[in-house]
Amino acid sequence: MKRARIIGLGHYVPPKVVTNEDLAKVMDTSDAWIRERTGIQKRHFVEDGMGTADLAFEATKKALQDSKKEAKEIDFIILATLSPDYFFPGSGVLLQEKLGIDSIGALDIRTQCTGFIYGLSIADTMIRAGQYERVLLVGSEVHSTALDLSTRGRDVAVLFGDGAGAALLEATEGDQGVLSTHLHAEGRYAKELWVEAPGSLNPVPILNLEECRHFPKMNGREVFKHAVTRFIKVIQEALEANHVTKEEMDLLVVHQANLRIAEAVREYLRLPPEKMYNNIQRYGNTTAASIPMALSEAKAEGKLKEGDLVCLAAFGSGFTWGSALIRW
Ligand code: ACO
Repeated sequence: MKRARIIGLGHYVPPKVVTNEDLAKVMDTSDAWIRERTGIQKRHFVEDGMGTADLAFEATKKALQDSKKEAKEIDFIILATLSPDYFFPGSGVLLQEKLGIDSIGALDIRTQCTGFIYGLSIADTMIRAGQYERVLLVGSEVHSTALDLSTRGRDVAVLFGDGAGAALLEATEGDQGVLSTHLHAEGRYAKELWVEAPGSLNPVPILNLEECRHFPKMNGREVFKHAVTRFIKVIQEALEANHVTKEEMDLLVVHQANLRIAEAVREYLRLPPEKMYNNIQRYGNTTAASIPMALSEAKAEGKLKEGDLVCLAAFGSGFTWGSALIRW
């Protein structure tokens, strides 16, 4: 049976490192508070003039190198981001232009932290249907230019970082590849983690910047609670659908929202630390980019071996959540 297999991975973060101490210089926070509650030690921020498609392009170059393929061998682009370069068009077409690939389709996905899993599901479906041989899937985010980097926004601003991760998927007839994906959403929680404006209901001309509705707002405790329970459920859903046990899973990579959330999931599932990969300590929460960035680093560190059973899971704004089980 045909399915999609990840044949190359790459990630990129902009050079500028912002430590917790750096943030404490511009807002009332501390390294201890951030580390204790989130596990984050530092993150990367772009310099002026670098956008989401630029980060995506850098990560894609590395994924192409890793897979020993050229840009012209890509049949379709899927780019997941909540921080596109422009209101429209999406960043997928900008990435396509940077890659110099003529007229292939480019789709932007807006399911926030779950964007990579949604993208993986779409790419796999396209490949299973025989529509495309090779699909480029990228998660890319520039959070730093849209955060409230003052004490007023500290509960959210300390969490996020900029970065991109890319995966090149190719059709395979073998045992390796995406075994299943499971996607969920529950719009009744849309306002628990959102940026309200600008949008069609609150267009720029009527926007009062002093109300700060253009900055992300989050009900942190509600998000925490839902994240832990839904991560666990959707991981179990992936395992059950494939008739495998959690003990058979070689690596679990969850969206890097918060180290405490990841650890709560790991402890509930009684997995040893070496079966979970985390890098939020170095990058913060990079939303749609976090899973491909983690996969790319895990591969570079030799933690992804052929034949491994790898589970991916994400949860985020929407609420949206999902999982994927992959035979590496
Ligand atoms: N530095 C110092 N103090 C802070 C900061 C900060 N950056 N942010 C908030 N505080 C203060 C609050 O004002 C509050 O002060 P008060 O007691 O005087 O009122 C105190 O710290 C405790 O605030 P809480 O919001 O109760 O802190 P909590 O322990 O819940 O931790 C946190 C907040 C880290 C956001 C937590 O709720 C959380 O991890 N939620 C999950 C959200 C998450 O991970 N989101 C990621 C994005 S969504 C996703 O990717 C799934």
